[in-house]
Amino acid sequence: MSKLFLTLGALMLVIVAGSSFMPQQQPSLKASITRGKEVYTTYCLACHQADGTGVPNLNPPLAKTSWVNGDKKRLINVLLKGLDEEIEINGEVYSNPMPSHAHLKDQEVADVLTYVRNSFGNKASLITPAEVAAVRKTIK
Ligand code: HEC
Repeated sequence: MSKLFLTLGALMLVIVAGSSFMPQQQPSLKASITRGKEVYTTYCLACHQADGTGVPNLNPPLAKTSWVNGDKKRLINVLLKGLDEEIEINGEVYSNPMPSHAHLKDQEVADVLTYVRNSFGNKASLITPAEVAAVRKTIK
């Protein structure tokens, strides 16, 4: 019996020690992407589609757009204020309004944008709740 516990204990030690030596690949980025996918599925998927390709001339794609991969403040503003202007993406014109998502928490906005910036072929830096809070403060 005690031998079993000893073996188990040794095994645990190996696992704990091993994991702390493994290169940690930005754990907060991974966790944020996982949470962000949930937010995306609930609030964005219906319009922008599961694969972020959108619907031609109706809802723009989120794959490789300058809005998604570009300036963080501009992107955060799209979610907090919505967007109602004519924009052109990949030669297609979009002019339907995007509703505001200001009801989402700072953490949710950060997570969903981090997810979008790291999905659909995008590869951009993560967005933090603090960055969302800073932009929210500028909105009256
Ligand atoms: C009711 C449909 C709808 C929902 C829901 C919606 N969007 Fe949009 N989104 C749009 C439309 C329409 C536009 C274009 C607005 C314009 O032309 O002014 C847009 C524009 C955008 C843009 C900028 C343009 C681009 O394609 O890069 C981003 C980024 C974006 N949405 C992200 C999101 C995210 C993230 C969510 C979920 C939190 C979301 N949207 C939810 C319809 C929607």
